[in-house]
Amino acid sequence: MKQPLRTPRRIARIPSLTAHRSRPRAPAGRVSYVDGCFVRHAEAGVHIEDRGLQFADSVYEVCGVVDSRLTDEPEHLDRLERSVREIEIAMPMSRQALQLVMRNLVRINRVRSGLLYLQVTRGTARRDHPIPQKTQRSTLIMTAHALDPAGIEAKRQTGIAVITAPDQRWARCDIKTTQLLPNLLAKTAARRAGAYEAWLVDREGLVTEGSSTTAWIVDKDGNLATRALTQAILPGVTRRIIFDVARAAQLAIHERSYSPGEAKKAREAFISSATGIYPVTAIDGVILGDGRPGPVTRRVQELYARRSGMDAGAVKGPR
Ligand code: PDD
Repeated sequence: MKQPLRTPRRIARIPSLTAHRSRPRAPAGRVSYVDGCFVRHAEAGVHIEDRGLQFADSVYEVCGVVDSRLTDEPEHLDRLERSVREIEIAMPMSRQALQLVMRNLVRINRVRSGLLYLQVTRGTARRDHPIPQKTQRSTLIMTAHALDPAGIEAKRQTGIAVITAPDQRWARCDIKTTQLLPNLLAKTAARRAGAYEAWLVDREGLVTEGSSTTAWIVDKDGNLATRALTQAILPGVTRRIIFDVARAAQLAIHERSYSPGEAKKAREAFISSATGIYPVTAIDGVILGDGRPGPVTRRVQELYARRSGMDAGAVKGPR
């Protein structure tokens, strides 16, 4: 068996950022991080009885990478800390050490524009439903990969179509767990229908959010509207940043629910996530406005790009 590239069981053994900055050492292939080690991506794996694998007993984060830097990193770490607290998983290491591993992984893989994925599971234990009494050593895994900027930019310019689908998720969607089967089914239905994203609709007939994005409309009065934060949706980091930049630019946002019917008559719509902001130009085949990204969406994209230090011509887009 090949040896891992590095075995930094102790965080002190992780090479410093400065060392990497002055002399980048990128291995030939992709490198991922598993439980203390930087390993070749093809060989990365967790234990067969990892509770994340067996029960989706785990939480995750996805951060954008722009110009080799993680975007909105503190906000993602805040949310990760909240997620683990809500389901009583131990953080695998200190926040500072985690940041170091994240940045090192981006650097080692030479990702300029892309994504960093991280997942914390409750760890390994003999398979049994109740959460083990004994404190587990949580598992931390991380991957980083580049995205094709041209493909993203094309979608960002022309927009995407969404479909609506029933929201079949559990009652704590505010925790970013890896229990994503309902999201995957909805996303797959969207792709099969030739759309990019599925907007989930609750039992009251109101849109909650996208299967992996926050859902926004610009209503008939020209106001931005997105669902209020409750346990029914994920508190999106990008959503929060949009609130900050919109407030500073005197753009009103109404935190409220809306139906697919209202969304189809909206002036504009868009989706947001760690990977950026995409205009929505059609919902269930109904074209919005003139079918092109609208001015408010453009403005939000620009404001967000400026805040994240992205150049406005290279704004990222959601997966
Ligand atoms: N998804 N809502 C859901 C259900 C999500 O999964 C996501 C993120 C968002 C947007 O959150 P943020 O702005 O913090 O990325 C909203 C990530 C990208 C994913 O699952 O890949």
